[in-house]
Amino acid sequence: MTSRQLPEPAGWFAVAASGHLNRHGVLPANVGGRELVVWRSERGQAKVAGAFCPHLGAHLGKVGSTRDGQLRCGFHGFAFDSDGQCVSTGYGGRVPSRACLQMWPAAELDGVVLAWRHPQNDTPGWTIPAAATDGWTRPRWRTSSFAGHPLEITENSVDLGHLRVLHGYEELRETSRASCEGPLLTASYSFERPRRLAWPPAPDLRASIEVSVHGLGFSRVELHVETLGARLRLWVLPTSTGPGRVTLRLGVAANESWAGDAPPALRRIPAALVAPLLREFTLAGLAADVDQDRKVWRSKRHLLRPALAPGDGPVGLYRHWAQQFLPAPTGNQRP
Ligand code: FES
Ligand SMILES: [Fe+2]
Repeated sequence: MTSRQLPEPAGWFAVAASGHLNRHGVLPANVGGRELVVWRSERGQAKVAGAFCPHLGAHLGKVGSTRDGQLRCGFHGFAFDSDGQCVSTGYGGRVPSRACLQMWPAAELDGVVLAWRHPQNDTPGWTIPAAATDGWTRPRWRTSSFAGHPLEITENSVDLGHLRVLHGYEELRETSRASCEGPLLTASYSFERPRRLAWPPAPDLRASIEVSVHGLGFSRVELHVETLGARLRLWVLPTSTGPGRVTLRLGVAANESWAGDAPPALRRIPAALVAPLLREFTLAGLAADVDQDRKVWRSKRHLLRPALAPGDGPVGLYRHWAQQFLPAPTGNQRP
């Protein structure tokens, strides 16, 4: 099955980085092939709705603007309140009763705006708890769009075999058994990353990670680089934008204090000074890993019955857990 043939998943999917959606901002987005508009209400809440103006179909994410917290269409001036109700036309007359936007449930946490997608438009069945932000830098985001599917991208976080072979991680161990509870899958690993260059004289990096996967669109990774005594937080947020297409947001934030195992030489430097630098390096490293993955994703097939082997990591557990976000298969599907 190619990624084009994989069904659209249900769940929370990123539509914008919070910092890109300023108070008066309006952004276009796409979840599962549906065109959307994202904006902020007068109270600063992120709002998500179907993009096409119910008047004559202008794309509000492209020609909309906000005024007094209302979303205003740039074609004929219809204005919508934060519930998507049209409150005025550009002509001052009666408001057509059918002029309302189709609102999508939205949430904002960890510096990102999420929209809830469900094939039957059911209300959100679960939420994602926000990570604490005190003592952390803001996240930095890197966004790219390419051929793929959230099911394949999120599988990476449990595919231990590819971490060794494709990305070159060493001494990889599961430090606690992967487990699932409803829409949440958690796993913990430790590993080493050998330095690749003779210069600068950096040590091999020993690290541990705790992965929390909230559905197929939101993975948060707590990374502890033991060699440096540094703690970082990574996000991997794939959003399907139509058959076989995905927009992937990678994010990294750094903790602004040293962990207990920081070497004395580093402790002399204020951690808050180093944190932005660590964030940049880590984001570049994460993006480089994803570039390696993309070479595989571009041409791989999704096998419904993979020949799994010891050493794969909890891929089987992941596949079983992921079914809750996908429509039930119909007929006889073959790999
Ligand atoms: S299409 Fe939006 S106001 Fe006419
Ligand atoms: Fe990977």
